[in-house]
Parts: sequence; structure tokens; C-alpha cells
Amino acid sequence: MRIIQCQSTQEAVELTASIMLEKVFSYPDAKIGLATGRTMEPVYEKFSHLVNDSKASLNGNFFFMLDEYKGFTINHASTFQYYINKHFVGPLKLTSDQIAFPPAHLSDGGENYEKLIKKKGGVDLQLLGIGRNGHIGFNEPGSMKNSRTRFVKLTEETLFANQDQFTDQIPTEALSMGIGTIMEAQSLLMLATGKSKADPIKYLLNHHDDPNCPATFLKDHPHFTLVLDPEAASKINLKI
Ligand code: GLP
Repeated sequence: MRIIQCQSTQEAVELTASIMLEKVFSYPDAKIGLATGRTMEPVYEKFSHLVNDSKASLNGNFFFMLDEYKGFTINHASTFQYYINKHFVGPLKLTSDQIAFPPAHLSDGGENYEKLIKKKGGVDLQLLGIGRNGHIGFNEPGSMKNSRTRFVKLTEETLFANQDQFTDQIPTEALSMGIGTIMEAQSLLMLATGKSKADPIKYLLNHHDDPNCPATFLKDHPHFTLVLDPEAASKINLKI
């Protein structure tokens, strides 16, 4: 596990976006897993600027979304599909055949998505945030290390943290890549910013393989990079 403590949120965001850019530069057919959340909004903005400024082509790249709420119509304003279209697909002018969303409207959506990931050759770089309760994607506390893409029940805590995403309807479930699915990506890149992430980051660094904090499972991944801003790193004490 590689931990990078940045001097500011901006530096952490820019570093994350530049690692993504480096991946698509070095591997023009790289498959990138995308996450949602407030943390990622400035990353996608920066990444879009970097791509546009460098005139890099993303024509050969493919993107997978990490998770999706169940129970909404396609592209409803509360869906992650809507979020990623707004913050990523639109600004980068990607075509609809360059991105896949967990098919939360299908009862066998998990199986379908796993097959698609395999068919495309797997994920090269998986971008991740972290929930306040240590969830990854929507792998809430209690998730198993070998879990696959499946429907998961959302906790009250997560619904509360994400409440500003909901307008007319509050979801109870989501289709999320499992921890086992995420662990199969070639590399993992987690970004945590802000003081609400200080506790989960402290827990992550002090525990291992703990289902109470699914993020701890990721520490076994051979290429796991964790990027922190000063607030997210405020409760840890790393000797440099
Ligand atoms: C959601 C997503 C996660 C994300 C988390 C943190 O629950 N499913 O992938 O990491 O939110 O979001 P934020 O960045 O808004 O704190």
C-alpha cells in the first residue's frame, strides 16, 4: 500500500487526476473504473481539463461504474449514471459505447456486469472514494472480502450522508461491484479528502481484513495507492 499525504486538497485532486491521465497515456486501451461522490467531482473536472489541454485521445478507453442505485428510471437525476454523464461523459465527449453502468434494473444485474467486466479484459485502474463508515462502492460494513457484484441494502448512515442526491425518491438498495470484484483490478487508487474522512482513514490504517470497515480488505492489494489531503490525514501519524 502506498500512501501519499498532500499539502492541500487541490494537490490531492490534481495528483489523482494526473495518475488517471498517466494511465490513459501509457495504455490507450486502459479500462478505468469510476466512482461517484463529492470527492470525485473536482477530480473529474481536473481530469477533463488535463485531457482537453493535452489533446489526449480517450477513443480506445472504456469505463466501468462502480455502483448504481436500484429503483430509479434510467438517467434519473439521483442516479450515478446522471452524475457521471454530467461530470465525466459530457465534458470528455465520450460515446455511450465507452462506458458501462451496473444494470440495477435487471434482477440478474450482478452476474451480467461481472460477465461484461471479464469480457472487456478486466479493470486496469479502479478509482475509489471511501464512505464515512468505511464502505467502498456500496460494500457496507459486514460485506465479505470475496463478495461479487450484487444488490446490497443501504445503511441509514449512508443514506443520510448521500441525502442531497435524492429528490423525489429515497433508494433502499444499490447494485455494487463486490470487494472481490474490486480486488481483481490491476491497481486501486483511493482519494480521501475532508475532515469527515479522518476517522475512516485512521481506522483503515490501524486495522486489517475487518468486515466492520470493508476498506481494510484492500490493504492486501499489491498496487493500492491512497491519496490524502491534510484533513483526511489529520488523525494519522505517519513517520516520513
Ligand atoms: C457513495 C459511493 C462511494 C463513495 C462514497 C463517498 O456512497 N457509493 O463510491 O466513495 O459515496 O462519497 P463522498 O465523496 O461524497 O464522500
